[in-house]
Amino acid sequence: MLQTGLEVNLLGHTQHTKKHFLDFNQLSVETIHGLLLKAIFFAQNPPLVKKYEGKKFLFYFKEPSTRTSLSFQLAAKNLGIEVFNLEEQMSSFVKGEDFKDGLRVFEAMGLDGIVMRSKGMELLDQYDTNLSLVNAGAGCFYHPSQALLDLVTMHQHFGKSEGLKIAIVGDTQHSRVAASNQRLHEKLGNEVKLYSDQDENNWDEILKADVLMMLRVQFERHQDSHHDNTSYLQKNGLTMQRYSKLKPNAIVMHPGPFNRDMEIASEVINQPKVKIFEQVSYGVPARMAIFDYVLGGLS
Ligand code: CP
Repeated sequence: MLQTGLEVNLLGHTQHTKKHFLDFNQLSVETIHGLLLKAIFFAQNPPLVKKYEGKKFLFYFKEPSTRTSLSFQLAAKNLGIEVFNLEEQMSSFVKGEDFKDGLRVFEAMGLDGIVMRSKGMELLDQYDTNLSLVNAGAGCFYHPSQALLDLVTMHQHFGKSEGLKIAIVGDTQHSRVAASNQRLHEKLGNEVKLYSDQDENNWDEILKADVLMMLRVQFERHQDSHHDNTSYLQKNGLTMQRYSKLKPNAIVMHPGPFNRDMEIASEVINQPKVKIFEQVSYGVPARMAIFDYVLGGLS
């Protein structure tokens, strides 16, 4: 659904005219292709004009981040957008201010949007605002900007974004990356399958994929944070032996940060099929495309 007018969201709230980037279930396939092509354009062309000079975005991250936070900041800088950071612990949200009221405060100050990483679904529940809302990761459920840069990585390798067989392996139950990628690729018509580390998985089947996406074990979301790295790697991880059985043109992805010798063996990380740092390199252009979408350059 294109968000260009006064519309009603999934929860029935009325929303204003600003465009948001929340997840793929709200974007048409045409819009997703537009975002992909724009990200590739930004990856190939240095930003010459500060297209959105004068725009102001708040960055509000309630969970830690290196890649997403920095690449959104660099993307904003490339487009001339001014960034303001709000530290949760130093904000009035710790005094109990309702998030909805906070959005009204940001709007009243003349901000144009908010890039937010949330612990749960609060960003996705609030639409009644004239701010552009950009989802930089929500709990275990949504990480659409990561899935977009993953799509750019796949497209740059395979020269297409359809007809791919994608295996997502590991701590799937806590992974917003897995959830957003699954929604995205089902929408694009790719074959996507999740392999949880809670199950006995058939590696012969997994290794037939075009894209093998390994997931971080998210200790911070586990009740029992103790794991035996060696047995985890042997059961659920990408060892050198498994890597050597991948299809010739297959690629390995991981959103990062990765746990060495847990979901991926150290010796695998620098192998030629592994695109982890290439993924990172597409983070800035993908997020430039997202700003361009919410601020009006893309339909
Ligand atoms: N992949 C990802 O979201 O990394 P950060 O948590 O460092 O942003």
